[in-house]
Amino acid sequence: MERTCFNCDLSIKNVGEKVTLVGWAAKRRNLGQLLFIDLRDRSGIIQILVKDDIEVPDIRNEYVLQIKGVVSKKEVPNKNLKTGDIEVIAEEIKVVNKAKQPPLIIADETDALEETRLKYRYLDLRRPMMQRYFDIRHQIKMVTHNYLNNNRFIEIETPILCASSPEGAKEYLVPSRIHHGSFYALPQSPQMFKQLLMVGGFERYYQICRCFRDEDLRADRQPDFSQIDIETSFLDQNQFLELMEGLIHDIFLKVINYEVKLPLRQMTYKEATEKYGSDKPDTRFGMLLHDVKDILSSSSFEGFKTAEDIRAIKVEGVAASTSRKVIDKLNLEAKKFGLGGVTILKGENNTLSGSFIKFLDENIISSLIKEMEIKDGDILIIAAGPKNRVTSLLGAYRNQYAKELNLIKPNTYDLLWVVDFPMFERDIENNQIVATHHPFTRPKDEDVQYLDTDPTKVLSYAYDIVINGYEAGGGTLRIYNQDMQKKIFEILGLSDDEIKEKFGYFVDALQYGTPPHAGMAFGLDRLAMILGGTDNIRDVIAFPKNLAGVDPMSGAPTKVTEEQLDELGLIIKDEE
Ligand code: AMO
Repeated sequence: MERTCFNCDLSIKNVGEKVTLVGWAAKRRNLGQLLFIDLRDRSGIIQILVKDDIEVPDIRNEYVLQIKGVVSKKEVPNKNLKTGDIEVIAEEIKVVNKAKQPPLIIADETDALEETRLKYRYLDLRRPMMQRYFDIRHQIKMVTHNYLNNNRFIEIETPILCASSPEGAKEYLVPSRIHHGSFYALPQSPQMFKQLLMVGGFERYYQICRCFRDEDLRADRQPDFSQIDIETSFLDQNQFLELMEGLIHDIFLKVINYEVKLPLRQMTYKEATEKYGSDKPDTRFGMLLHDVKDILSSSSFEGFKTAEDIRAIKVEGVAASTSRKVIDKLNLEAKKFGLGGVTILKGENNTLSGSFIKFLDENIISSLIKEMEIKDGDILIIAAGPKNRVTSLLGAYRNQYAKELNLIKPNTYDLLWVVDFPMFERDIENNQIVATHHPFTRPKDEDVQYLDTDPTKVLSYAYDIVINGYEAGGGTLRIYNQDMQKKIFEILGLSDDEIKEKFGYFVDALQYGTPPHAGMAFGLDRLAMILGGTDNIRDVIAFPKNLAGVDPMSGAPTKVTEEQLDELGLIIKDEE
């Protein structure tokens, strides 16, 4: 199809030139003798001016058009368009294809529900904003390929049909047609393969790959998502992080022209959770958590005497708007985090007020005011209970208030490493020890001594990169010693037989001269979200699933025929 250029290749420099453009009719305005058409192609929109001296076919929104005409200077420039100081005066208009009336407005501002947008995703993708997100996503990949290639990395694909192996989330399984009763698992990440590539001598591997996790979906989570997956040999933690910082620096600079200051700050997991209430702290605003246990454990309130942890945050200037209803909401939230409720005090007349004040003597009140620097009009939210619940709840409040009170400046980026994660945590449901990252993480040398006596005390060589409160990536130094790997599996409660069955080939491989190695994976979708400025991961995935794990366009997951089930040797027990 003939076209001389894309719409936005044209500028004031091209005035007087004859051009042929193609695209979709984004908008038309008929002013009697003059007709204006906004022609949209991938590069953007240009205005076409149609006078009454040519033959004009019937044109409706989203018709595909080919337009021949002459570039002309606009008398009144349109500042909202890249091509706003020119227009094309049409000499010939051809309708290449007609279009049905679209079920959503194809413009940045659309009032369509997300479900409609997903059902007609191919139309939603035509919106300029969506095209911009995908451009950013593509640029991130291009910069990544270049940077890693320049640093001697090699891209290698790993299997999608894998052996089942226990990692954090539930797996998606694929039944084998040839071996009835046996299943492949889709990879949650290429973790073991990339480590085996280090045993295989590649030294620097990467892959922009798909990962699959059957877990509860959220605004920043999809069941199939993409990682920039990386593994290296012979680098210590600092060398590895420096290499990764170079990549992130390049991505920000080349994709959105933002200079990230290096080296990135490092914050320990302990500080992040105790002060920010999160292992992915948003450090663009204050409102830090304060440990007030020493102050409050002497109060006459029974609940404070036995609490493992008591912490507080101060929210400035919201005392007047903190109604009964707001307090009820805060308490409801506390219950979701497994706490009975929270205590709210208000700064008033240079002291504190609130129904709880009867439990506090003058000394406690003045210590609290001093510790938290409370002024009239501020509120203090105090939570008491198990430490992880207290910190997570206050961390959640902190993020909610920051949004509500607009405490975060737009277009600011805050990047840091969170380091020294605990090696293990206790699963609240069954009290079992589980790996915080994954079982291949190397414990810190100085903590190896506690592996037998108190494994939950052991910290690991693990690091997450946190950007604006999102976990944008994470990784670890790996165990490269077979005995240590076996020991970690044992602590996780895996028997010799289970180790052999699930990880036998992997543990075997460690015996053949495994180099010290380290790696990480960036969440590509999350990077695209952050750089694109959206808080919805579905915006940066072409054909995503909704929160129920369904693709409203194709209907996936769908039922299959009896013949297909027979072929796979499957019987469905309880159909939905
Ligand atoms: P991890 O599980 O931390 O590490 O994942 C790495 C990064 O992937 C992104 N991510 C997701 N993005 C969208 N939807 C999801 N469901 C989802 N889950 C994770 C996050 C996260 O930081 N194999 C290790 C990496 C390593 O140790 O090398 C791994 O997968 O941004």
